[in-house]
Amino acid sequence: MTRSIDISVGDVSDAYSGAVGTLWEMVMGEEIHIGGPLATTELATMAGIENDSLVLDICSALGGPACQLARDFGCRVTGIDATPAMVEEATRRASAAGLDERVTFRLGNALDLPFRRSSFDIVWGQDAWCYVTDKERLIREAGRVIKPGGTLAFTDWILNDGISDEELAPLLGFMLFPNLETRAGYTRLLEENGWEVTADLDMSRDFSLQLTRYLAMIREELRPEIIRRFGGEFYEAVEEGIACWEKASREGKVGRGLWVAKKTA
Ligand SMILES: C[S@@+](CC[C@H](N)C(=O)[O-])C[C@H]1O[C@@H](n2cnc3c(N)ncnc32)[C@H](O)[C@@H]1O
Repeated sequence: MTRSIDISVGDVSDAYSGAVGTLWEMVMGEEIHIGGPLATTELATMAGIENDSLVLDICSALGGPACQLARDFGCRVTGIDATPAMVEEATRRASAAGLDERVTFRLGNALDLPFRRSSFDIVWGQDAWCYVTDKERLIREAGRVIKPGGTLAFTDWILNDGISDEELAPLLGFMLFPNLETRAGYTRLLEENGWEVTADLDMSRDFSLQLTRYLAMIREELRPEIIRRFGGEFYEAVEEGIACWEKASREGKVGRGLWVAKKTA
């Protein structure tokens, strides 16, 4: 077994067009990342988002964070996502919230961003780059579309020390992550690609607490609804998958990191 598994952007997109997108919204809410709107506010404050900032949210999903940023900080946000159903739904929700002047969504791949060089002040991502096959190319693309001196702010699920290939493969397979970066690995990628890292935080303890909470929520509250909508077999797979992640996070083998970096070169 290797540290990567064979998952393509098409596989992820197919999953997010169906039950997976709905499931994660049931568990995490419209902002599909650990910590919800509070985590978005904290990251935006660290990134220094202002009312004239042009923000790119890479892997924007349902657009919850993009709408929150526009509403709370007055900035303009473009979201990009590879799943047509997510782009359509995010566009519908932004419009319903009266934010379509300041928030737009586009279909596209994070590895080939459909934007010109130096288009954005802030490049943003929350708990989604774990789905992207080539993290270095993603960081390079972020560097291409950011203005000189612009800021990159993101969180992601990460690999910590001490996990065997046999333990890792089912974790990746359940989540449809092709691979995971380590905290040191992301920091190195940033530094090698012209970013000055100003924050590099280990959020793994909170990650584990949140997974424990999600597991309890699935077992105690969401079980009947998940079974009603997607069937018993799907529920069993979800419970087993989240239980595996929760155990690995308690053992410190997987976690979550947060980075803020400035484009210097
Ligand atoms: C966990 S959700 C993102 C959550 C979002 N950042 C938030 O905080 O609400 C993952 C999203 O990443 C998108 N995605 C995965 N791989 C992608 C890629 N290579 N390019 C663009 N979007 C991708 C999926 O379509 C899905 O909507």
